[in-house]
Amino acid sequence: MKKPAVKIMLAASLTLSAFGTQAVFAQPSKEVHSQPYKVFDQKIIKQINADYMYNNIDYLAKTPRVAGTESEYNAVQYIKSQFESYGYEVELQEFSFLGYTPPSSIELSADGYEGELKPSAFTYSVSGDITGELVLAGLGKKDELADKDLSGKVALIQRGEISFGEKVLNAAAAGAEGVIIYNNADGELNGTLGEANDEYVPAVALTKAEGEALATHVADQSVSVSLKVTGADTSERTSHNVIATKKPTNKRKATDDVIVIGAHHDSVELAPGANDDASGTAMTLELARVFKDVPTDTEIRFVTFGAEELGLIGSNHYVDQLSDEERKRIIANFNLDMVGSKDAGDLVMMTADGKPNLVTELAQASSKRLNGEPTPYEQGGRSDHVPFAEAGIPAALFIHSPTEPGYHTPEDSIDKISKEKLQDVAEIVGAAVYDQAKFDHMGPKFKKDRKEHKEPKGKKGKVPHHHHKKDLK
Ligand code: BES
Ligand code: ZN
Repeated sequence: MKKPAVKIMLAASLTLSAFGTQAVFAQPSKEVHSQPYKVFDQKIIKQINADYMYNNIDYLAKTPRVAGTESEYNAVQYIKSQFESYGYEVELQEFSFLGYTPPSSIELSADGYEGELKPSAFTYSVSGDITGELVLAGLGKKDELADKDLSGKVALIQRGEISFGEKVLNAAAAGAEGVIIYNNADGELNGTLGEANDEYVPAVALTKAEGEALATHVADQSVSVSLKVTGADTSERTSHNVIATKKPTNKRKATDDVIVIGAHHDSVELAPGANDDASGTAMTLELARVFKDVPTDTEIRFVTFGAEELGLIGSNHYVDQLSDEERKRIIANFNLDMVGSKDAGDLVMMTADGKPNLVTELAQASSKRLNGEPTPYEQGGRSDHVPFAEAGIPAALFIHSPTEPGYHTPEDSIDKISKEKLQDVAEIVGAAVYDQAKFDHMGPKFKKDRKEHKEPKGKKGKVPHHHHKKDLK
């Protein structure tokens, strides 16, 4: 099934050996090898055009592309049409997930209270419009609330000891209609309830100063508060992976292997995501264009994933839906995420376990051939190579490190994109892939025993835990 080493023995060799010309049969030296490599590399890299990548990034990064929104869907359609324009048939692989939209407005007022209140929402806070008596509820622990009847009331709870989500659930179980949680340290409270839950009541956050002032205000009188949270929505959303497949050129000479080149097309809110990850998406498109009519004996799949920013949802879906047989065919995943920022550092590869694998070996060899220096690798997760690695598939993330300062902000825009960086990474990856996928390849025979494949995950449709920047507690 896997490719045999190039056969050097020729039929003529027996005849020739009779003349004692042993040198003819010597293994080709390094120098002899380096020449074909350069010819093969050229076949790919001379076709790579950074302007095409730049223009696709420019198009995609006109708006944020948050998973499950119309703008992500527009990006999916655009990517599909680009693949099709190169001559590919494209599959849109649909999947759903539980998404959250934060409230558009929050209003909070307390009778007789003159100070300013600037409430903020927790991720997964629900909408509602309530009025009730404000009640001090300590830390909101179960035992503190046991003797309290909070029916129809609003609980004022201090941050600490248990998670925000537990506080809201405990207060709701005691009958509260709303919850205000105030900080126990200076600064904004940027929190999440951790996951969606039907039992939640509207819950908002206040600063330490605001919370303490309200607590003082309510200490010697009965105070009615009104809380109105509008526009928050937790609901099933739909996203897509976009898949373009290049089959081996000649069925009879084909291997059974598959190489996946991928990137994520979604972005975080408010960020145009030019580098994260329109850059990888545009590079995936460009490599698909370049490889379209290049003969290969190995299947190459060009995939852009949805919902990466919400917890690698699209790539997990892609890997989870593979049959055992299909999964075992995939020999490599090249994950292109943040591959074109002027303001970031040098190219590195990241593997989930920090160890080399087929992908890093191929790319170290190609980068050495092209630039004289092998691209280094280190340990790193946080992107779509992780589900592949967890399934035992050699996988690596291509990224510039250190990361640019505008990462995940409105500053991640087209003006920060470097055509030179795009060209460099696309050449390294293109040459590495071709080294493995071409007929009679001479690439590293680096095929370590595959690790155990992960068991299919239990619960599907679980709420993604993407509270990496927000506090749970
Ligand atoms: N492109 C980033 C990943 C990244 C950034 C890796 C900087 C290494 C350095 C990716 O899109 C991302 O933001 N990932 C999330 C985690 C994911 C599981 C939701 C992150 O790192 O916060
Ligand atoms: Zn990314």
